[in-house]
Amino acid sequence: MIIAIDGPAGSGKSTIAREVAQRFGFTKLDTGAMYRAVTLSALERAVDLDNEDAIDELARTIQITFPAGSGENVRIAVDGADVSEAIRTPRIDANVSKVAAYPGVRAAMLTPQRAFAEGRDVVAEGRDIGTVVFPAAEIKVFLTADPRERARRRVLQRHEGEEFAAEALEAEIAETLAAIERRDDLDSHRAAAPLVAAPDAVAIDSTAYTIDEVVARIAELIAERRGA
Ligand code: CDP
Repeated sequence: MIIAIDGPAGSGKSTIAREVAQRFGFTKLDTGAMYRAVTLSALERAVDLDNEDAIDELARTIQITFPAGSGENVRIAVDGADVSEAIRTPRIDANVSKVAAYPGVRAAMLTPQRAFAEGRDVVAEGRDIGTVVFPAAEIKVFLTADPRERARRRVLQRHEGEEFAAEALEAEIAETLAAIERRDDLDSHRAAAPLVAAPDAVAIDSTAYTIDEVVARIAELIAERRGA
């Protein structure tokens, strides 16, 4: 079975996919991490991000792997080197949508994404999973949330366990909101595989729901499918 979870930045796809994977024994595939890995490789090798041919070539050449496979601690590597933390920086956030918009980059990611799902139950998250990567996925979810709430969650996640002043928190939320809106705009308006809900996706707005409530809704969808 394949569960596709698509949606904008910070809507909770990763958290929900992780929970679903753990609870139902699916393997999680984070396709955003792959586009982040291409972006990181380009920046590290000083490949001009505006040079589409060079970026396409890079995406075809590097080997992206998921060494730990599944579970709580999913890791990602480029040519054998773990980049799991390095892909989660503001610099990657700011540049990934440009790289992900190149059709050649997307084509290079498609084969490994589909190969990943061969012979196993997968919960895959991204922007085009239900529309392009796995259009025949048994369950499709389009997960959204109010942009300000998404920015707030991102900032709280970034500073988990830390204490800081309310003004500092507000300033960072405002900054993060602007970055998220910019990325959503690029992802939604590109020509190749834009962020859009598949016609047969179940839309879930997580603004007012807890993680457990969203997972419970997906559990219902799984039970319906399995019973069908
Ligand atoms: O976790 P967050 O929502 O911030 O982003 P992500 O899922 O890690 O994706 C990072 C970026 O990769 C997105 O903003 C898209 O530009 C791109 N992406 C894509 O084009 N197609 C996908 N299936 C997944 C991500």
